[in-house]
Amino acid sequence: MRQPPARDIRPTPGPRGGQIAPFYAMEVLKAANRRQAEGHDVLHLELGEPGGPPPPQAVAAAAAALAVESVRLGYTEALGSLSLRRRIAQHYRDSYGVAVDPARIAITTGSSAGFLLGFLAAFGDGARIGVSEPGYPAYRNIIAALGMTPVAVPTSHETRFQVTPALLTAAGSLDGLVIASPANPTGTMLTATEIAAIARWCAANGVRLVSDEVYHGITFGTAAATALAAAPDAIVVNSFSKYYAMTGWRVGWMIVPPDLVGAVERLSQNLYISAPTLSQIAAEAALDSTAFLNAKVAGYGRVRAQLLDILPQAGFDRLAPADGAFYIFADVSALTEDSTAFCARMLTETGVATTPGIDFDPARGKRFMRFAIAGPADHMVEAARRLRAWRR
Ligand SMILES: Cc1ncc(COP(=O)(O)O)c(C=O)c1O
Repeated sequence: MRQPPARDIRPTPGPRGGQIAPFYAMEVLKAANRRQAEGHDVLHLELGEPGGPPPPQAVAAAAAALAVESVRLGYTEALGSLSLRRRIAQHYRDSYGVAVDPARIAITTGSSAGFLLGFLAAFGDGARIGVSEPGYPAYRNIIAALGMTPVAVPTSHETRFQVTPALLTAAGSLDGLVIASPANPTGTMLTATEIAAIARWCAANGVRLVSDEVYHGITFGTAAATALAAAPDAIVVNSFSKYYAMTGWRVGWMIVPPDLVGAVERLSQNLYISAPTLSQIAAEAALDSTAFLNAKVAGYGRVRAQLLDILPQAGFDRLAPADGAFYIFADVSALTEDSTAFCARMLTETGVATTPGIDFDPARGKRFMRFAIAGPADHMVEAARRLRAWRR
């Protein structure tokens, strides 16, 4: 099937906040919670949240900080605690063999704040920023809320739902581009060679590259490559939410190109002052919790293998080739013409909550849905078994 052309998805003029699209996964969560409150049992495969606790070392570091009698936990510098920034620089040396000056590292309130700061620092009003479709909905919603223009670049199974230089050339003029590997909702990855080709295309076309690396660490074959290796001037956004399992601690980081460090620092000072201090302390300890965290990833891998076996038996046999993250993105066009109604019926009839594709692809999302599989292993497998029974 041929892909539709790229298109601008900027909302009509007017107060932008009121026009922002909902995050449908949160709407599904509301419906699922309502069912649960009514006494039905619900298996949650709608939200992209890691299962289980954060690393004990992180919790212990936070508890130790709170136990100090004179603890104040005041603001840190706007770019974050220097010891955490140095520890992250070491992480880049150890994990990727890339040298990063800690002065270029900004600690943020989750990667969500990183996107806001990065877009504001790098782009002006109306800037055209390419985003893969399907893709994480907050990219386009943040870009639009900032008065910039998200440009949807439709991708398909053919390119593993990732952008390519050819698709970007077809998208028309761009000022910026967001890539993600592993990606949400598909879990598909870009190889180092593919990232380098995209980085070369960006350099040749004056396009600033923004790389979302929040799912690094959660991979089931090859380790994810950082865009920094190929594009030293890229904005790289990362987080303690996913691999480090610290969603609610609201802490992430950004590698900022030297020309944007001042802008990011001034924006942080004004928008947030600083990321939560207690979370920064815990995050530093989380970076030393590799054994605990890799065991968690192995658990996601086991669930993924079981679901990749059971879901096709339930008719979900057109799945994106996920190599990372904790999602399974399914083309359900053979089962329904409207995945939103299908997911709603699935919730009512089986108690399995999932996310319809329109969250990630407003144009073609009715054909797709996403299973988020990072919850408790027994719940995930039970969900797949229920779907198999439901579809028989
Ligand atoms: C691809 C992607 N990027 C960024 C985020 C934002 O995460 P946080 O703000 O918790 O770092 C998410 C959350 O689901 C995501 O899936």
